[in-house]
Amino acid sequence: MSRILSAVAWPYANGPRHIGHVAGFGVPSDVFSRYMRMAGHDVLMVSGTDEHGTPILVQAEQEGVSPQELADRYNRVIVEDLTQLGLSYDLFTRTTTRNHYATVQEMFRTVHKNGYMVEQSTMGAISPSTGRTLPDRYIEGTCPICGYDGARGDQCDNCGNQLDAIDLINPHSRINGEKPKFVESTHFFLDLPAFASALEAWLSTRQGWRPNVLKFSLNLIDDMRPRAMTRDIDWGIPVPLEGWEDNPNKRLYVWFDAVIGYLSASIEWARRTGDDDAWRPFWNDPQALSYYFMGKDNITFHSQIWPAELMGYDGRGDKGGTPGPYGTLQLPTEVVSSEYLNVGGQQFSSSRGVVIYVRDMLSRYQPDALRYYLSVAGPETQDVDFTWAEFKRRTNDELVAGWGNLVNRTASMIAKNFGEIPAAGERQPVDSALLATSGEAFGTVGSLLGEHRNRAAIGEAMRVVQEANRYISETEPWKLTGDRERLGTVLNTAAQAVCDANTLLAPFLPFAAQKVHETFGGTGTFAPQPRIEEVTDLDDASRSYPIITGDYSQTARFESVPVVAGTAVGKPTPVFTKLDDDVVEQEIERATKA
Ligand code: MF3
Ligand code: ZN
Repeated sequence: MSRILSAVAWPYANGPRHIGHVAGFGVPSDVFSRYMRMAGHDVLMVSGTDEHGTPILVQAEQEGVSPQELADRYNRVIVEDLTQLGLSYDLFTRTTTRNHYATVQEMFRTVHKNGYMVEQSTMGAISPSTGRTLPDRYIEGTCPICGYDGARGDQCDNCGNQLDAIDLINPHSRINGEKPKFVESTHFFLDLPAFASALEAWLSTRQGWRPNVLKFSLNLIDDMRPRAMTRDIDWGIPVPLEGWEDNPNKRLYVWFDAVIGYLSASIEWARRTGDDDAWRPFWNDPQALSYYFMGKDNITFHSQIWPAELMGYDGRGDKGGTPGPYGTLQLPTEVVSSEYLNVGGQQFSSSRGVVIYVRDMLSRYQPDALRYYLSVAGPETQDVDFTWAEFKRRTNDELVAGWGNLVNRTASMIAKNFGEIPAAGERQPVDSALLATSGEAFGTVGSLLGEHRNRAAIGEAMRVVQEANRYISETEPWKLTGDRERLGTVLNTAAQAVCDANTLLAPFLPFAAQKVHETFGGTGTFAPQPRIEEVTDLDDASRSYPIITGDYSQTARFESVPVVAGTAVGKPTPVFTKLDDDVVEQEIERATKA
């Protein structure tokens, strides 16, 4: 049994989530966490909404509300989106809790005390028309290093280099296109060069990372410069130092705010369980494992900045130092980054209207259909396009006609002929071959899931479904009504393969898994689901908010469990809904009307 922290990237609370978001951080992290729980590990899966910074300010302005109102609104919306999709967070919270503020400020104080926060004056951009600061991420221009013309003021997504906005060629605001003005301002910088050798030593011991992610991360070491951790902005967490704390225009930046949410949410989770120290084994124990899930635009922050902050807290950089009250915090075991899910070769963009929201999709389709699509055809190691035609094909041909049909015809034949799972007589080679296939799949699928190779894993699980469908076509149980013993053996064998396939697919298709479990007479929770709970802030009784949480202790084990002859099986109802023939046309029409 291992302790496993599943750390899932924090979405901005500036709008509903689209399917590109959940393809990156959502479904992959949930599949992994569910599998690890089924394999008997102790999993802590945490995240929350990121509610500070410019993305929130810009949207609040657009909607004519205060940033807190905006964050409250979209925190609720996102909590619903993610719960409906069955993402099994132990705690999904937010960055505006008192607990998060306290955790971030404690991290800052200790990193500062250890000497890794250096004050420097810098040239910051402001918008000439509003007089407000324009954060680096909101400035676009041509990369001075590689010439890519979509570089942002903080980094170039093409060559991966860290940039200063002032060095961009032809800089312009992404908000209104105007040319920023640069003025002098003082900020705290995280002394990244002091961690270069420690980071390199750590990265060079990483195993099993996706090659792109590791290569990108190692490249960053060559260009380590101090990086600003504060911003000229009035919406965020105050810098906990004299002379700064009361300055309403200096706030901590997202990379010293949301990213610390992994730790603060673990602490909040512990406090809510009633054991304030329950988070410690996940963070302090060198044997504990931690996996961070995100889209590729977040790699730098998880393979460079976050580890540097953790080492700064512990005094593990060139300047030494001693840990604060949180103790020595473990570095990520793995940064699991996905590529992009696009539409028509372009990134989703709410502003350009090229977007498919999770909530719209789930108002028309089953959550497992989306989870299936994103697992089997998602951007695991390269950018991929979402198409409605492919969604329809995957759903109808694979889920409905493949898996759903297998469940349905197996249960129907059992219900009609026996009303219960029949006992197996002597098995023939064809029966044993099927059971060998389904039994062996646990090892194959399990190790693929442990390596985040979800596409291959679901492919192997679906191979069991295909074999079982082929078995039924070959053994033709409908012709065996005169031979009850052979009929019983065949249907018992088929039921066993179906139940095995159901367990193999449960991390991907938890809603269906519970239903199939019950179809074959199972009781109790097979695939647990998250729930939304309204809670009060632990440190401010006047504030309440919704969290995602759940009891995931009752879960199927990731192993073959022998079916029990005599278990009642009634007439089944379909597990999956077939999509209309004209679903592609319907969706295209909807998109053009919107
Ligand atoms: N909300 C930010 C983004 O989407 C940060 C997410 S990652 C975390 O880019 F580290 F902050 F959690
Ligand atoms: Zn570049």
